Amino acid sequence: MEKLTGLKKIKTAVFISGAGSNLRNIIKFSKRKKSPISIDLVVSNTRFAKGLKYADQFKIKKRIFDLKNYNEAEKNILLSLEKEKIKFICLAGYMKILSKNFIKKFGKKIINIHPSLLPKYKGLNTHVKAIKNKDKLAGCTVHYVTAKLDSGKIILQKKVKISAKDNPVSLKKKVLKQEHKLYPAAIMKILN
Ligand code: GRF
Repeated sequence: MEKLTGLKKIKTAVFISGAGSNLRNIIKFSKRKKSPISIDLVVSNTRFAKGLKYADQFKIKKRIFDLKNYNEAEKNILLSLEKEKIKFICLAGYMKILSKNFIKKFGKKIINIHPSLLPKYKGLNTHVKAIKNKDKLAGCTVHYVTAKLDSGKIILQKKVKISAKDNPVSLKKKVLKQEHKLYPAAIMKILN
């Protein structure tokens, strides 16, 4: 019975470029009975992404694409997704922008997590910006991916208080902790 339930889960790919703490967290979530997704593929644009170790640890297929020839690489990523029957993509610290063409061709759902309270601080160095601007609040956002950077419809957000003692490193840690709660909650919200 357990196995049958597992089979019905939505085949999902996680795209990463870095440490992969969100990847690890999503994999763990996916293994819970109530999770609507299974993680069947990990995609990275670099073999140096530390998070690739989680694909090995949890015996999940991984593919690394050199994006020097961008169009070619995207075509190959699409082929890979098709081969694995992937129906859903979670971007988790993936540092490349997907082309309009890719988003249109994949045609299914792609979501992303961003370490700020969007629409504030799109792009990089969100924590540095929040500290520099003496913001009282920071946070994270899970949103649908569109061709425009960090601009798709917001699914869920979580606020975090910035204390006087915080610096970009401590703030990143605080926000990341919330990201690990927010990503599974956002997946449940849209797929359950
Ligand atoms: C996270 O802060 C995420 O919001 C951003 O990149 C970071 C990735 O961290 N998009 P990790 O690789 O999941 O640890």
